[in-house]
Amino acid sequence: MNEILSQSEAGVLTLTFHRVERKNSINVAMYDALATAIERAVDDAATRVLLIQGHETVFSAGNDIEDFLRNPPAGKDSPVFRFLRGIATFPKPLLAAVCGPAVGVGTTLLFHCDLVYAGDNAAFSVPFVNLGLCPEAASSLLLPQTFGYHRAAEALLLGEPFMAEAALEVGLVNRVLPPTECNAFAQQQARKLAAKPLSSLITTKQLMKGAQQEAVLRRMDEEGAHFRRMLGEPAAREAMTAFMEKRKPDFSAC
Ligand code: COA
Repeated sequence: MNEILSQSEAGVLTLTFHRVERKNSINVAMYDALATAIERAVDDAATRVLLIQGHETVFSAGNDIEDFLRNPPAGKDSPVFRFLRGIATFPKPLLAAVCGPAVGVGTTLLFHCDLVYAGDNAAFSVPFVNLGLCPEAASSLLLPQTFGYHRAAEALLLGEPFMAEAALEVGLVNRVLPPTECNAFAQQQARKLAAKPLSSLITTKQLMKGAQQEAVLRRMDEEGAHFRRMLGEPAAREAMTAFMEKRKPDFSAC
């Protein structure tokens, strides 16, 4: 089954997580499909705007933990890192519509979006520490910038969820809507953008984000090296095995 749906209409390429029974957790094949679609969209004249969305009950539970244990990302060109680089360097407008849980990369990808719309049921979390891991997607840089250091530390060190209203307050999301309206509203905004002159959109985005891009990519590489190393270490093994065995992890030996 195709777990990333792709639809192109009115200049908007919409990529939809379509694995609701696994809470839209993302496996290697899905990262590969996302990365390939995003890479193609850069030069595809039919795509003027990209929108990433999930289901009205769940955006994404982040990495598929079982798949991550079986197929850990091997290097900088693995699908997950291609995906992260793809969103961090995407030159055209990038939007997201988020309802329900947005865990791990489900939240960190949003820092690379230009506009984010959230359902009032959105619950964001970045529980990397709870998984024996460290931040990815340059979130160790971008989260403190958006949230301020202490709130970022709360999100990244404690790993507790924060809700749509809190995300609105810090500026991570542009607007909070009823979940049943969120994807349609984001699509409407995306189409508004798609009708505008593309070169102005690209230049404006480049002017806003260009100065920091190198630092973002450097931080992603740095985080990626730690992340890959930590995946094989006892804390991550214990956390992920515990998740699959539906028990609390025991970090007393980690
Ligand atoms: N990887 C693999 N499987 C996952 C998953 C993930 N990240 N998230 C959920 N699933 C699976 C569950 O194991 C469960 O499988 P089962 O039906 O065989 O028992 C199914 O999807 C439904 O998930 P469940 O936990 O029962 O749903 P929920 O509504 O109670 O909770 C979440 C939803 C997203 C809050 C919860 O699933 C969760 O915390 N997931 C893990 C998130 C995570 O740590 N991601 C990694 C970030 S790096």
